Amino acid sequence: MTSKIRKVVFPVAGLGSRFLPATKSIPKEMLPIVDRPLIDYAVEEARQAGVEHFIFITGRGKGAIEDYFDHAFELETTLSERSKREALAALSTTQLRHGAASFVRQQKPLGLGHAIWCARDIIGDEPFAVILPDELVRHERGCLAQMADAWNEKGGNIVAVAEVPDDQTFQYGIVAPGADDGRVAEVKGLVEKPAAGTAPSNLAMTGRYILSPEVFEKLKDGNLGAGGEIQLTDAMAKTIGDVPFHAVRFKGERFDCGDKAGYLAANLAYGLAREDIGPRLIELMPQIRGDLKR
Ligand code: UTP
Repeated sequence: MTSKIRKVVFPVAGLGSRFLPATKSIPKEMLPIVDRPLIDYAVEEARQAGVEHFIFITGRGKGAIEDYFDHAFELETTLSERSKREALAALSTTQLRHGAASFVRQQKPLGLGHAIWCARDIIGDEPFAVILPDELVRHERGCLAQMADAWNEKGGNIVAVAEVPDDQTFQYGIVAPGADDGRVAEVKGLVEKPAAGTAPSNLAMTGRYILSPEVFEKLKDGNLGAGGEIQLTDAMAKTIGDVPFHAVRFKGERFDCGDKAGYLAANLAYGLAREDIGPRLIELMPQIRGDLKR
């Protein structure tokens, strides 16, 4: 077993139905936050945590993601001939070490658990990370790096959690906590999208996982869970007792970019924080709010 998280899985094969029609021909993960697609932020966060290999679970219509992380020969040559140095520099985050990316097709969108299971051959028998690119976390030290700190201490499975209002727990995978020091809580149980009033806590999982390879054994049965999908939460729940399992409250602001309002909020927040755009965006606020008289 390695003492480092070397591989990350990005499940990007979902239908993105909440963003139709935009996602009819553009993968949700390619929607930009200011000028970088969501998937770029996810890769950057994994890199910051020391990850070396990036596994994308893709599906039909997701080719733009593969192209994004490829060498764009014509574009780069043209920019170089025109001495567009800034534009060329902007492409730097799209360069992955040769051989450091794998793309696996999930032939049918059978659920997040199934998407992760599709990575089993490439992961093999080592711990790995999962990042859902539509959950964006803004912090100097990325969420996955914070989780890796906890993993170095505890090992086993680690999930990132945030406290959500009681009336929203039905939208999330919820943790039943055991011993809790206020930052890291032992996980005693997990339930995906609990019916209103039945959630064991308000600690919701937020799209970041560090998992022991034992989870593949539990995913193998292909049992359907909430929403008729193969749920990662159900498979993780079955590993409780076999491997240490902890939830980490991370530092940073979370934007649910799978939701339209969350996505727009992320664009505003990231735009406002940018020196080159923020001041102009503030000038435009009255117009955005519709305060201006015509
Ligand atoms: P979501 O529940 O956000 O689904 O999936 P979605 O398809 O992306 O979006 P909506 O709900 O239809 O608008 C959570 C994550 O799991 C991936 C998605 O790409 C997303 O990153 N996923 C989901 C898969 O890779 N395969 C699946 O079968 C389901």
